[in-house]
Amino acid sequence: VLCLTVPTDSRWASAAIANLDAVLVDHAHCEMKAASNAMSLATRPPIYPDVARALASLAEEELDHFRRVIDVLEARGVTLGPPEVDEYAARLLKTAQKSARKTPSGSLAERLIVGALIEARSCERFKLLEAALRAAGDPLADFYRDLLASEARHYTTFVDLATRVTGDEAWVKGRVAELAEQEGVIVKELGVRATIHG
Ligand SMILES: [Fe+2]
Ligand SMILES: [Fe+2]
Repeated sequence: VLCLTVPTDSRWASAAIANLDAVLVDHAHCEMKAASNAMSLATRPPIYPDVARALASLAEEELDHFRRVIDVLEARGVTLGPPEVDEYAARLLKTAQKSARKTPSGSLAERLIVGALIEARSCERFKLLEAALRAAGDPLADFYRDLLASEARHYTTFVDLATRVTGDEAWVKGRVAELAEQEGVIVKELGVRATIHG
């Protein structure tokens, strides 16, 4: 899916379905983190009005997703606890920073590319979840079908913004491919967990 180099372990979807409440809780936090990440990138220098606007819109969409997951949790009688450390995202960011471009626009672009990879992985996982829920006759399948379409769009938005910021399409493509390799290693190492990414 999209730029990913390693597919999710085939056992992940059944583990997720078996722990659906935990996955939904993790999912709610992922949406909020996606919103706050987009907001913080919108004001990270160098600030380009068009980039800031696009990130603000993306943040709004992620907040809307957060609200929708909260609705699902409430309907299921599940309470949302405090967020746990997202090991996947933390490791991905750390890996990216090791070899990141040091210029301000370069480091903003790195963050945007990390965002793109996270969106790509979410999109892949939502697709697997949709199929598993559909097979189980669970109406939440439609919910995930809706969300995976936005995550695919967000992937493209992040890649486009990284290109806009650096003006260097070839570099962005190369960097996405490079980080996608590293992302694959992280996904393999984290193994099968009842979380959206880990
Ligand atoms: Fe989202
Ligand atoms: Fe997203």
